[in-house]
Amino acid sequence: MKKRLQFIIVGVLVLSLLFLASCGADFGVDGNAEQTDESADGDIPEREDLIVVGVCQVGSESVWRTANTESIQQTFTGENGYFLIFNNARQKQENQIKAVRRFISQKVDYIVISPITEDGWDTVLKEAQDAEIPVILMDRKVNVSDPGLYTAWVGSDFFLEGKNAGEWLEQYLEEKGMSEEEIYIVVLQGTEGSSAMIGRSKGFESVADKHKNWIILEKAGAEYTTAKAKEEMKRMLGKYPDINVVVSQNDDMTFGAIDAIEECGLTVGEEGDVILISFDAVYTALKLVEAGKIGVDVECNPLQGPYVESIIKALEYNWGFEKENYVPEQVFYKENVSEFLPDRKY
Ligand code: AHR
Repeated sequence: MKKRLQFIIVGVLVLSLLFLASCGADFGVDGNAEQTDESADGDIPEREDLIVVGVCQVGSESVWRTANTESIQQTFTGENGYFLIFNNARQKQENQIKAVRRFISQKVDYIVISPITEDGWDTVLKEAQDAEIPVILMDRKVNVSDPGLYTAWVGSDFFLEGKNAGEWLEQYLEEKGMSEEEIYIVVLQGTEGSSAMIGRSKGFESVADKHKNWIILEKAGAEYTTAKAKEEMKRMLGKYPDINVVVSQNDDMTFGAIDAIEECGLTVGEEGDVILISFDAVYTALKLVEAGKIGVDVECNPLQGPYVESIIKALEYNWGFEKENYVPEQVFYKENVSEFLPDRKY
């Protein structure tokens, strides 16, 4: 009887441990923790030598995003003196807000947010400010009444990216002797209300507005994903028979657009039916630039971890730093892409 009781207690303990391991915060052996939005408040280790950084990521919608996450995870390691709590918000702003509140209650040293959309941040940023936790924005921006609600921002000049795309098209059409022809354009847009979608749209339109013969037939939301872009592209090909240019606001959507165009029996590229303009410049897309399928790929640099760290270091040591920090980026087309391809790691 006593033995059976011992057996039951051990069994219950094992099952409880298995259950705890399968839910909630997963504190890895390397000193980092991954939180899901359902997870309970995790314990931060009693290691006063480690700087605790809570990072709230958009999701894992694109190759770019995965590279951005890896950049953060490779920067904020135990070896480098950090304890990283990483939260994947799965494309929902409400999850991001919950994660920030959790970071505040965990009393992290710094909060890093890649905001899904620009609006809706005032209240939670005020809560972080009241708790005296510096907030560093990464990648995208926020639209707040008081810029003092965040400490610094690191990311891309999305307007310039869009403008560069428009200027490439301007030059391309000129070289092909098509600058006076009517050009029919469709746009595959990223997440509605995100800085990348807003900036790239405005930047491209700043050039398009100068050309009365550029006709933007439709701007379709495709959430930065291949599947949604393929669906939207198919729909638009059915609706507009003469699409000359597709402006696709990230590479993942471009892959979906190519599939849709080719499945409709059309071709892409310089000698093809449709000219493609893309953003991000991930390896697979740059190979398509080299192959002549994508006309131009405007880089969006995801390797932002070291830039975020330099701000944290400046705060730790009381060094000066800029509030707005643009990461370096360039534009890739057939003539220059091959020399950069061997170095592209994502
Ligand atoms: O905010 C950057 C954008 O978000 C990238 O272009 C896209 O791929 C990502 O998901």
